[in-house]
Amino acid sequence: MAQTAGPTVAAGCEQGDVARERHGTDCLCCHGTSEFGVAGSIDVGETRIAKIVVVDATGWRLEMVPNRHGNFFRDGRTEPPLFAWAIDVRGGEHAMPSPAPHGSCNRCHHAGTLIGELRLR
Ligand code: HEC
Ligand code: HEC
Repeated sequence: MAQTAGPTVAAGCEQGDVARERHGTDCLCCHGTSEFGVAGSIDVGETRIAKIVVVDATGWRLEMVPNRHGNFFRDGRTEPPLFAWAIDVRGGEHAMPSPAPHGSCNRCHHAGTLIGELRLR
């Protein structure tokens, strides 16, 4: 019997608010790298970000518009390192200073950490 690649509520993962698609949590903790290649959230107070762009080590370019929950995600396996940009509503590009080692953006961009949720500086 084939295993499903769907998410499980894995033990040790932050549960988050199901009504907000678990905004702000470490998405890949439950969804795994075989389901989402990239996933994360924008700070709820951040209205300047129009799009998130990620380019993986193979040159695969993923463009994601945050949804109504302020979340973004894409199916498929990405190859780190991942270069990341936020494109603001005026078209300005804001690059992450160094590439990400994996696609679970909220693992670093998380409330309560020094970086905090993803927003423009
Ligand atoms: C604690 C585990 C867990 C975390 C963390 C988690 N999810 Fe999920 N997610 C699930 C489960 C289980 C489902 C299946 C249906 C359900 O319970 O909502 C799901 C379903 C989904 C779906 C499809 C169903 C729908 O609501 O449209 C999307 C999209 C999704 N999650 C996105 C995300 C994003 C984005 C994040 C991070 C901000 C995230 N998830 C974090 C467990 C998780
Ligand atoms: C290993 C930790 C880490 C991961 C994972 C990570 N980031 Fe970052 N990111 C940082 C740090 C540190 C900064 C610089 C400090 C800041 O901007 O708050 C940053 C900055 C950024 C910026 C620049 C913001 C600005 O205004 O200049 C963007 C955009 C960004 N990250 C997007 C992403 C995306 C998208 C992902 C997921 C693919 C991601 N990050 C994953 C640590 C991380």
